[in-house]
Amino acid sequence: MKLQHNFDEVIDRRHTQCKKWDTYGEDVIPMWIADTDFKCPEPIVKAIQKRAEHAVYGYPCIDKSYEKAVCGWQQRRFHWMIEAEWVEYTPAVVPAIVYAMKAFTHPGDQVLVQVPAYHPFPQVIPHNGRHLVANPLQEQPDGSWAVDWADFEEKAADTRTTMFLLCSPHNPTGKCFTREELLRMAEICEKHHVFVVSDEIHSDIVYQGNVHIPFSSVSDWAANHCVVCVNPSKTFNIAGFRTGAAIIPNRNNHDLFYNEMANLKAFGRNIFGMLAVQTAYNECEYYADQLLDYLQANLQYTHTFLESRIPQIKLGPVQATYLLWLDCRALGMDHLSLMNFFLQQAKVAMNDGYTFGQGGDGFMRLNIACPRAQLQEALLRMERAVRSLAK
Ligand SMILES: Cc1ncc(COP(=O)(O)O)c(C=O)c1O
Repeated sequence: MKLQHNFDEVIDRRHTQCKKWDTYGEDVIPMWIADTDFKCPEPIVKAIQKRAEHAVYGYPCIDKSYEKAVCGWQQRRFHWMIEAEWVEYTPAVVPAIVYAMKAFTHPGDQVLVQVPAYHPFPQVIPHNGRHLVANPLQEQPDGSWAVDWADFEEKAADTRTTMFLLCSPHNPTGKCFTREELLRMAEICEKHHVFVVSDEIHSDIVYQGNVHIPFSSVSDWAANHCVVCVNPSKTFNIAGFRTGAAIIPNRNNHDLFYNEMANLKAFGRNIFGMLAVQTAYNECEYYADQLLDYLQANLQYTHTFLESRIPQIKLGPVQATYLLWLDCRALGMDHLSLMNFFLQQAKVAMNDGYTFGQGGDGFMRLNIACPRAQLQEALLRMERAVRSLAK
């Protein structure tokens, strides 16, 4: 019998050393950082409980179970036929990006990033002695986002640019790149010898009418000049286990990447994290399907609510991710006032768009991966606060 998950269940996460819920006051609904408020799938809970009861937590051996679980998921969900030898465990996605940057670029090089960008990107690039070069995504009249190809090529052609750090699907705009777009990026990067790191952590959350395409699968060149980073953490709410995987089809690239981790002795695996990922990928496809349906309904609810009740806040078409990029520019506030307004007047915590770099000013990022009742309450609070401005 197929398992059913109850995404309406409200879980009290306060006082659990939870970043989302224990950062702001108890009167604030947190709709910010990218984890969900859902319980993780029951098979993961059971697997962890069983392993915990063993009561011996020594060093694990590497028997390729983890790698095979990653392969199975990529093959079944994205039709990307990968091999266990291409997969490398990483202690999360952001560290994997840093290892790749160290392995495939030199200090002083430029890393191309489409902006606005997931906020750690503009942090880890300069912190590791590289420079971020921005390719602003272009806002379309309907609120969707498009690549500025002329600018992309101009930046890629700069000989100082040696890496393109892609976020696919894109956080924070919710854009799901098409095969044609990915292929065009690959062709430009090939022409200008730019290595690609593709952060595909949000690939499971892609809404009807859109398809996630792993970057490495678009061409032979892409397969040989790319690291794809994944983590089931966003989908199954297991970010606290600190897991991830880098998928690197080219053996030489794989060795270069692995050496960076090995030099830092950063390759040790967490026994619970390994188990959580393996169980997620091997046994919890039902959960990913049901989650997507639930999020699709939350998305529809939010669209309808904003259009009919808070038209000052605009939301374009969302193709992927549970992170909505709300255009609040019509409220006419600078970013600090906007953040404070939602936090203090509405009592809703969102991410300040300004922290996502160029193009983020006036936007707020809303996380809708929560029980519908919580989403409804957050939107009602936002409506009340915005209405109070008119008085
Ligand atoms: C695009 C993107 N990459 C990476 C991460 C963080 O992943 P990890 O915790 O595996 O480093 C997030 C989390 O929000 C994200 O949105």
